[in-house]
Amino acid sequence: MPRLRPRQTSRSTAEVIRALARRFEQAQLHYGHGTENALDEAAWLVSHVLRIAPDRLARRFDKPVIPSRIKVIDSLAAERIQSRKPLAYLLKEAWFAGRPYYVDERVIVPRSLTGEFILERFRPWINTKRVQRILDLCTGSGCMAIACAHAFPKARVEAADVSAEALAVARINIKRHRVGRRVQLLRSDLFQALKGKRYDVIVTNPPYVARPEMKSLPREYRHEPELALASGRDGLDAIKRILAEAAEHLTFGGILIGEVGNSAVALQKKFPSVPFVWLTSSSGDESVFLLTAEELQHHQGALIRPG
Ligand SMILES: C[S@@+](CC[C@H](N)C(=O)[O-])C[C@H]1O[C@@H](n2cnc3c(N)ncnc32)[C@H](O)[C@@H]1O
Repeated sequence: MPRLRPRQTSRSTAEVIRALARRFEQAQLHYGHGTENALDEAAWLVSHVLRIAPDRLARRFDKPVIPSRIKVIDSLAAERIQSRKPLAYLLKEAWFAGRPYYVDERVIVPRSLTGEFILERFRPWINTKRVQRILDLCTGSGCMAIACAHAFPKARVEAADVSAEALAVARINIKRHRVGRRVQLLRSDLFQALKGKRYDVIVTNPPYVARPEMKSLPREYRHEPELALASGRDGLDAIKRILAEAAEHLTFGGILIGEVGNSAVALQKKFPSVPFVWLTSSSGDESVFLLTAEELQHHQGALIRPG
């Protein structure tokens, strides 16, 4: 008599995602590197393996996932849980402002809230028609510079970072997004190699994590370059230098947009007289500020010598 083998029932995409999310929850992973919870992380992993853009995944929730793909999904999930590496490093890909970027451990995983304001073309804070030159200071993977190039198709963008390793990753992304004619990379310790240059818009997501916070970061963050996160005792070392010099690098009517995460409160406290405008993201977060060239000029005394 032939042996009866249990019939293998194939699982739908939605079932695979739900099972994966349960596994991630049990493993108590930390999120915040492109997703905010287990279900979104599971959906991202599955969409990557199935080669579907995350925003199109819902269309195939009912379709079965073939066993060879399940195997790849299982092995990536096991590595995510065991190593605690951010998923973006395992996939060598992160999404920013609606587009995919190459990433590896030489750069932090793109997650800047400034992406939303780039997509809005910084309206209503600047006359978009007059934006010709943009600087992305502390560019990392180049994601903000490239998003700016897409948002302002006629503008030239400079992307600066002190890390040669980060610039190598940014170069890959510039090629991938075919913006090499308009996005130029520069190695610079903040504004040091940019003497005499002025821009209509400066965007920056500098390192801003305070020393005590660095010690308590979840394991996922330890896979990211410390240079991209740590910024002295109070997290303000880099942004203080940027604020002191930004006025010299903006055109009349230009704007500085800076992201400072949890250090926003410390920054406002350090410069009580400076009229930071805190931009509200779609999630209600207020850790990205905007200052005009004129405000930076007017408050330069306080910005150069903080209290
Ligand atoms: C928080 S990451 C931001 C990367 C990217 N802009 C993003 O949003 O994903 C900060 C970046 O600043 C760079 N950096 C750190 N200190 C710097 C300095 N003194 N001058 C220029 N870049 C610096 C790091 O190499 C890192 O790439």
